Amino acid sequence: MRTPDTEHLSKMKNQTNLNWIAGVVAGLLLALATAAGAADALPREVLSLDQGWRFHLGDIPFPVIKGHDPSYQNAKAGKAWGAAAPDYDVSGWRELNLPHDWAVEGPFDQNENLSQGYRPRGIGWYRRQFKLDTADRGKHLELQFDGVATHCTVWFNGTVVARNWCGYTSFHVDITPMAQYGGSLNTVVVRVDANDMEGWWYEGAGIYRHTWLVKRNPVHVITDGIYANPVRDTNGDWTIPVEATLENSGNDAAPTEVAVTLVDPEGNVIAHAKTSVMVPVLDQAVAKLTIPVTAPKLWSVDEPTLYSIRTAVSRDGQVVDAVTNTCGFRTIRFDPARGFFLNDQPLKLKGVCNHQDAAGLGVAVPDSLWDFRLRKLKEMGVNAYRCAHNPPAKEFLDACDRLGMLVMDENRNFNTSPEYIRQLQWLVWRDRNHPSVILWSVFNEEPMQGTEQGMQMVRRMSAVVKKLDATRPVTAAQSGGQFNPENVSQAVDVVGFNYQQGSYDRFHQEHPTLPITSSEDTSAFMTRGEYVNDGNRHIRSSYDTERAPWGATHRDAWQAIAERPFVAGGFVWTGFDYRGEPTPYQWPSAGSFFGCMDLCGFPKMAFYLHQAQWVENKPILTLVPHWNWPGQEGKPIKVMALANGDAVELSQNGKSLGEKPVDKYEMVSWEVPYAPGKLEAVGKKSGKVVSHFTVETTGEPAALRLVPDRTTLAGDGWDAMPVTVEALDAAGRPVPTANLPVNFAISGPGAIIGVGNGDPNCHDPEKLMPQPAIRTVPLNDGWRWAKVPDVHAASLAEVKPKFDDSTWPTTGTLGDNGNLSENIQAIFRKTIAVSAADLAADQAELSFGSIDDEGWVYVNGQLVGEAHDWQAVQRYDVKRCLHAGQNVIAVAVINLSGPGGISKGVSLRLHERLVSLDWKRSLFNGLAQVIVQSDRDSSGAITLRASTGGLQPAETTIQVREVPPRPSVPAL
Ligand code: GAL
Repeated sequence: MRTPDTEHLSKMKNQTNLNWIAGVVAGLLLALATAAGAADALPREVLSLDQGWRFHLGDIPFPVIKGHDPSYQNAKAGKAWGAAAPDYDVSGWRELNLPHDWAVEGPFDQNENLSQGYRPRGIGWYRRQFKLDTADRGKHLELQFDGVATHCTVWFNGTVVARNWCGYTSFHVDITPMAQYGGSLNTVVVRVDANDMEGWWYEGAGIYRHTWLVKRNPVHVITDGIYANPVRDTNGDWTIPVEATLENSGNDAAPTEVAVTLVDPEGNVIAHAKTSVMVPVLDQAVAKLTIPVTAPKLWSVDEPTLYSIRTAVSRDGQVVDAVTNTCGFRTIRFDPARGFFLNDQPLKLKGVCNHQDAAGLGVAVPDSLWDFRLRKLKEMGVNAYRCAHNPPAKEFLDACDRLGMLVMDENRNFNTSPEYIRQLQWLVWRDRNHPSVILWSVFNEEPMQGTEQGMQMVRRMSAVVKKLDATRPVTAAQSGGQFNPENVSQAVDVVGFNYQQGSYDRFHQEHPTLPITSSEDTSAFMTRGEYVNDGNRHIRSSYDTERAPWGATHRDAWQAIAERPFVAGGFVWTGFDYRGEPTPYQWPSAGSFFGCMDLCGFPKMAFYLHQAQWVENKPILTLVPHWNWPGQEGKPIKVMALANGDAVELSQNGKSLGEKPVDKYEMVSWEVPYAPGKLEAVGKKSGKVVSHFTVETTGEPAALRLVPDRTTLAGDGWDAMPVTVEALDAAGRPVPTANLPVNFAISGPGAIIGVGNGDPNCHDPEKLMPQPAIRTVPLNDGWRWAKVPDVHAASLAEVKPKFDDSTWPTTGTLGDNGNLSENIQAIFRKTIAVSAADLAADQAELSFGSIDDEGWVYVNGQLVGEAHDWQAVQRYDVKRCLHAGQNVIAVAVINLSGPGGISKGVSLRLHERLVSLDWKRSLFNGLAQVIVQSDRDSSGAITLRASTGGLQPAETTIQVREVPPRPSVPAL
């Protein structure tokens, strides 16, 4: 298996390494005789734009536009106002690199939406500037956004260039005509609206997938413009029909030659073909050709063999664009009686549904974490993944191709109007080369699924899909309606059943020619490492007895699928826990209980259960629960063996408790009177011992241990890995009941980017947000005050800095109530000294415990804000009004009833430098996770340390390998 880092490298090679041009030349020696000379000018550059963004949390309203001139200007290209204007001052904005999810940085808040994991979402602004070399003039330039949650508006150099209406689709913007070259700055501004929601699960907030700037020759292959999906004809012969969509942003029609080369996994060119096509000016043309292939190695879930398809576009003998795709040779078929076939062999889909957020990261998941997650699923025996309920990151599908995972690729919005059809087309267009993708799902559980309207919508959506890819069936995840006179099952190729397991047989009997699969099943609850329900603590036991009313236990759901050959397979809800949807609980639970693994990817009992049910090529045996039950001595405890053999013998402290047959669905269990010590299980197959498993009572935690997922990281600033944190007893055994706070420190060329522990009820921060240190200057004594007849009087002299208040009486502002009686209007004044050091603070806020009832606050004669709620603390940003030396604060107050004025303390809050706190996270039932990422352009050793009071600390080293720098747009 290739590590993710080599994948990064090889991707980069695909784009920039000239070696493969040599391959093209080898394949097309005569035709491209001059190409070698052109290789130096290989024009496509795919540059990461992830680095060096500025971010502002919260909206920045546009200035109100009134009057003819401003309205006239506002309506013009290049004249965006407010924070969208190229020259807007962003000096106070936070600097960060993408991908970024601001929701996971925020607090948990009971008033926020449970579905979004009780995290505030809101609105945020991003800005990035870059320069283009004069040599770039004439190239085709495209900005690419792989995913922004949820809706956004993009400006380029002061002109609105995109509005994106789906948080899961990528979008591309041709900036060629608007770009500036040489010393001039180009400005990209993105306003992200994450108040909009598209789901009922955690969706994150911000630019959470990669961004790119792609520079190409004016005559080029458009983005995702190669369709090359191998097919086998009825004679058993393989071909790759290739369609290359070319575009020409130049000034003259371009006669081009398109040469396609097929390269096997060893790097040998094994087939090629070429054709010519004329690409009109400012238009597109499609080059079509077919590559015959003899006896290719097949792609399968166990041997995911990938070939490369290299497409070179040349003009006048010069290569002007080149792109590499991967492909896999495999056949798929859904049979109405016998289920799914891969390469003509029946293969039951052992699937899981998943959302896309991970512990410590929200939805901004580094590419290498997809590999980690897929490896965990494969270890569990999973061979199919449903992207619920939206298109995934493209790097995720690359990983599925590489690691051998079948994919149900799902559209987000069920809608046949033009914008939403465009989203569906985009999905198929982007993903139709992946051998892993076996099903297009047009929706999940739509209320119209059992109606004529729903059926008509799916007919149209299916036709849209088929136009772009006729090689994969269309499905829809129906939670009902299949038996209605008109319904969606009549318009799909494979009928998807969400739950409704009691209807499989009836549907099959009534529609014996329609293939069916479970598109979603189970929805059972488990808390990792817990074996007793505890409603007060929001804990669900892990014996696979807990489920949603619409769902089934893992065992029942799988049995219903496994026993029916006509059901292609199942998709358990879910493989991993996710944020939001904390069914069956609410606050303070903020994450789901459905996963076979928790949010970190730590296995729950359901992981071992499915492993026993699904893994066929090696013995599996695990016992649950752990064996630490102090206080339960002598009481019976249910012990379950999860095994794929025929029988298991269990012994306690050396004494056999007998051998029992294993039911392949139900597994096997014993009631064992608890005594500290050791449980040992021996698994047997056909009478032979094939496996052993031991669980022991441990001592108290004595030491910490850190276990990195891999030994090295690529030093590219992208590669990341989870490190497992455990507590060990004095004998070195992991303590499954340890719940301890742990602190982390890191040194060397890497950083911690998130922490987690898989507890859906835990509110520890997952991100370490640098906190501004606040220096508070109390301003409570020596306020002078006087009654005035009308605080609204025009040009009120009493609020001006020069006014002489020396004859006014003084008062303090620390009391619970102010000094004014009912129906009094007054001015309060105080002169304060401000130093240059004070002015160096990032922010200066004037804070009032209470202004009772109405107030208008002036600093040096400038109105800084109003107060209309006597119960609320009032804070005003005053830095812009302060100067070094004497400054005058004046507050005009109207007291309407009761005592009033200024009370409960006044202060100046100076936000000084950013302080980094230590990373920390509690172990939850023995485990926590730290995500470590390499620094950009780095090498050397990262040292991660974990410590907690009274325990031996832990340390681990991760080597960072030097890799070629990732091509990127320099940050300014
Ligand atoms: C399904 C739905 C999923 C999730 C699940 C929870 O009906 O498709 O998105 O909500 O229920 O059980």
